[in-house]
Amino acid sequence: MRIYLDHNATTPLDPVVADRMAQALREVWGNASSIHHFGQQAKAALDEARGAVSALIGGDTSEIVFTAGGTESDNLAIRGAAEALEPSGRKHLVASAIEHEAVLNTLKALGRRGWRVTIVPVDASGIVAVDRLRDALTDETALVSIMHANNEIGTIQPIAELASVAHERGALFHSDAVQSAGKIPVDVRALGIDLLTIAGHKLYGPKGTGALWIKRGVRLIAPVTGGKQERSRRAGTENVPALVGLGVAADVARQKMAAEAPRLSTLRDRLEAGILAKVSGTDRNGAASPRVPNTTNISIDRVEAESLLIGLDLAGIAVSSGSACSSGTLEPSHVLKAMGLPHARTLGSLRFSLGAENTEAHIDRVLEALPPIVEKLRALTTVGGRK
Ligand SMILES: Cc1ncc(COP(=O)(O)O)c(C=O)c1O
Repeated sequence: MRIYLDHNATTPLDPVVADRMAQALREVWGNASSIHHFGQQAKAALDEARGAVSALIGGDTSEIVFTAGGTESDNLAIRGAAEALEPSGRKHLVASAIEHEAVLNTLKALGRRGWRVTIVPVDASGIVAVDRLRDALTDETALVSIMHANNEIGTIQPIAELASVAHERGALFHSDAVQSAGKIPVDVRALGIDLLTIAGHKLYGPKGTGALWIKRGVRLIAPVTGGKQERSRRAGTENVPALVGLGVAADVARQKMAAEAPRLSTLRDRLEAGILAKVSGTDRNGAASPRVPNTTNISIDRVEAESLLIGLDLAGIAVSSGSACSSGTLEPSHVLKAMGLPHARTLGSLRFSLGAENTEAHIDRVLEALPPIVEKLRALTTVGGRK
């Protein structure tokens, strides 16, 4: 039995999505910009997908721009808004310290081109405080980008309050909802934001698909220039079969959410409580709530997450660690670092992210497999000099 607990990295394709995509690959191959039958068939398929995505997030169909994923949507939102607002003299961008690299590195790139960038800190809860954002804003702030749910620890940010504070200073508000859309209700109107990012492969849709919701009236200058596709916001012939898949995935997620969210949070809580009880020296990272229902991040004292990850993989269990190996040394997760966790704790943290195929039997198997792997590693090694 192989157990996949890394759904925040990516999800398997829903079988209904796969079937509809296979059909579209064979039958809906027209160019959605063509006037003839084949083009109109492709355009109708895109319109249906756009309707499904807007139904998932509460926006209007005409406000959805299809992209090739979360990274591209984040780039379109940030670079597009920044360039559109540049002539107004607003040359300041704000994001939280726990954003995905798609946001942080885009801000860094704009920083090298003369934009002033402010990163809002978080505390150990992993939640952005509204007052910290207020402190960061100026009359020159063009855009604030704060994610809805964090990919590593799952915490949900108070987006409605944060957006309202940004708007008081005249700034636009973008939220990366890649890790919340499909897991918890997302309603762009209730959140009161201007731009929202989603990605297909995190909600049982295909990789290389995403969308940016752009509130009507918000002006962006598209970084990708070319034809007039996607209302001139994203040039290039649309990948219709893949976007059909995104639409079906959005539909399925919307229909299943009410039952799936409590099912996953029950499994997640069982896993989390089980690990904290069975393995000594463990702590949950970040606030218990509000959190997306599928995610827990746990630090395990006196082991390196990478070794644990390999041990678990050998036992047929796929999880992820927040740390990344670059040039032979372990780099701690920027999220856990921003939360102020001690260095050793950042290197010994595992993320478990549950999904549709997981069952109670999977959780019990992890709870059986993990303690002896930790004990074995602890007997072999010490981390950071701590015994
Ligand atoms: C919060 C968040 N934003 C953006 C992305 C990037 O999305 P994509 O892989 O579709 O480019 C991810 C994926 O890991 C993510 O978790």
